Amino acid sequence: MSGEDSRKPLNLSGAAGRKLIIAIDGPAGAGKSTIARHLARHFGLLNLETGAMYRAFALKALRTGLPLDKSADLEQLATETTIRLEPGEEENRVLLDGEDVTGLIRNPTVTDAASRVSVFPAIRAWMVRLQQQLGAEGGVVMEGRDIGTVVFPHAEVKIFLDAAPEVRGQRRFEQLGQDGRKSELQPEEVIRELHARDERDRNRADSPLKPAQDAVLLDSTDMTLEQAVSAAEAIVAAKLKLS
Ligand code: DC
Repeated sequence: MSGEDSRKPLNLSGAAGRKLIIAIDGPAGAGKSTIARHLARHFGLLNLETGAMYRAFALKALRTGLPLDKSADLEQLATETTIRLEPGEEENRVLLDGEDVTGLIRNPTVTDAASRVSVFPAIRAWMVRLQQQLGAEGGVVMEGRDIGTVVFPHAEVKIFLDAAPEVRGQRRFEQLGQDGRKSELQPEEVIRELHARDERDRNRADSPLKPAQDAVLLDSTDMTLEQAVSAAEAIVAAKLKLS
C-alpha cells in the first residue's frame, strides 16, 4: 500500500504461538466480504466467512421443512449436520453434509432464514465452536457478526465495519444485479429486507451484532469500496506495527 511507513516491519504473529487473527464484524452490505477478501490477499491470510455457515444450516432447515422458530428441533437438526468451510480465492466453498452448497445459499429465502436460525444460543454455541476450531492456528481473516466479541475476543486486529442503511441496501441491490437477479427485486425491497435483518441481528439476546470494545470503527458510507479497502489496510498496518 502506498504511503505506508516501512521502517518498522509488520508483526504477523499472534498470541500464544498461533498466527495473526483479523476479525471483521458489521451489518450486511457494509463491505465486509470485499474487505476481508482483500485483506486476506494483502497480508497472506485465509479468508473465512462465518455467515456462510449459518446460511448452510438455514438451507438444511428449509429443506427439512422445520419451523425456523423451534429451538429444540433446530438443535436436534444441528446434531445431524456437518458444515465445512474451505477458504478460496474469491469466496469460501461451503460443504453441507459433504454436498457443495456454495451456489445455493445467497438467495433471499436462505438469507432471511440464516438470520432467523442464528438467534438461538445452542445453534450459536455450535457454530462458535466450529469457527474457533477453524481459526485455531491463526493466519486468518474471519468475517461475521460476533468474531471480535465472542469467537476470537483476543484477535490481534478487530474492525467493525458499518455504513448507512440506504447505502448498504443500494450496494446489496447492485450485488444482486451482478448475480443476474436484479430484476426480481426493487431497491426498496432490498433495503426493507436488510433493515429487518439488521434489527434481528442487532437485537437478539445472544451475541447481538455490536462492536467489540477494542474494535476500530470504519464507516464506509461516504467511501467507495476501494477507499474502504485502503482504510482497512491502513488500520491493520497501524495495529501490527504497534504490537
Ligand atoms: O454475513 P451474512 O450476511 O452471510 O450472514 C447471514 C446471517 O447469519 C446474518 O443475518 C446473521 C448470521 N450471522 C451471525 O449471526 N453471526 C455471524 N458470525 C455471521 C452471520
